[in-house]
Amino acid sequence: MMAHFLDLSDAGGDAIAAMIADAIDRKAARKDWPKGGPDTDKPLAGRVLAMIFEKNSTRTRVSFDIAMRQLGGSCLILDSATSQLGRGETIADTARVLSRMVDAIMIRTDDHAKAQELAKHATVPVINGLTDRSHPCQIVADLLTVIEHGKALPGLELAWFGDGNNVLHSILEAAALMKFNVRVATPAGYEPEAEFVELARAAGSTVTLTNNAAEAAQGADVIVTDTWISMGQADAAEKRAAMVPYQVNGALMAKAKPDAIFLHCLPAHVDEEVTEVVFEGPQSVVFDEAENRIHAQKSILLWSFGLLG
Ligand code: CP
Ligand code: NVA
Repeated sequence: MMAHFLDLSDAGGDAIAAMIADAIDRKAARKDWPKGGPDTDKPLAGRVLAMIFEKNSTRTRVSFDIAMRQLGGSCLILDSATSQLGRGETIADTARVLSRMVDAIMIRTDDHAKAQELAKHATVPVINGLTDRSHPCQIVADLLTVIEHGKALPGLELAWFGDGNNVLHSILEAAALMKFNVRVATPAGYEPEAEFVELARAAGSTVTLTNNAAEAAQGADVIVTDTWISMGQADAAEKRAAMVPYQVNGALMAKAKPDAIFLHCLPAHVDEEVTEVVFEGPQSVVFDEAENRIHAQKSILLWSFGLLG
């Protein structure tokens, strides 16, 4: 049965574990193949994904495109500027039209409510490719990367530095579902939305909110950061100044476990949220993480089509 993927909770912990397992298998099965060629089983042969972008993207756009090719299907791209969405056609009508023309829809939008509205009116799966509230596809790739680097999720200590943003919200949701713990180091006033913290805590995860970066890094397994200024946010000097103590640098990494890994969803702003030494250093797995967007998208697509687990 088809299902929307607006947030990780739509799938649940068992399905996310199945997505990661399938991604590992499919990635291994096609190692060193040309990237655009299909997997042997072509599970989405003949299916088309429409992608709607209201914000910029490199990784999400390319990884969904390549994911569809590898699953035997294809995709097309719409944006607000050149589609009728930009001239006021409603999300509801867009959902009903696209549902007659394509087999699934991915949307990247400023406003999470638009993704929800799309899902409400669509009769094909809708996937959240990033909103102001969350970025669930990114976190499936991140969990895959953590596991590939030899770390088990239950009991994992993940530490986040900087802005309490959309990516962190999905990490907290993942913590609830996959039973890991999150230390969140932000300046005062930039904490994540309380509902995500409460969700993780209610599920039994330990979530520490602190203004002390060193404390959050101490003994962590995974160190994560993201841009200080997300798409759609005001680029305020005051915010940038508040973020400086939360930069991931060599001194901060040294407080984590010796085998800790560094994650960043990218795009990165080197020497802002992370120093070059860390970004280019041996603990940084950010390009594995970026590649894993393809493998994760494939599992998410298969799950949305009811073809996984
Ligand atoms: N990490 C991520 O979503 O990258 P893009 O904005 O390039 O899609
Ligand atoms: N938090 C960032 C993630 C980009 C992939 C943003 O929303 O711009």
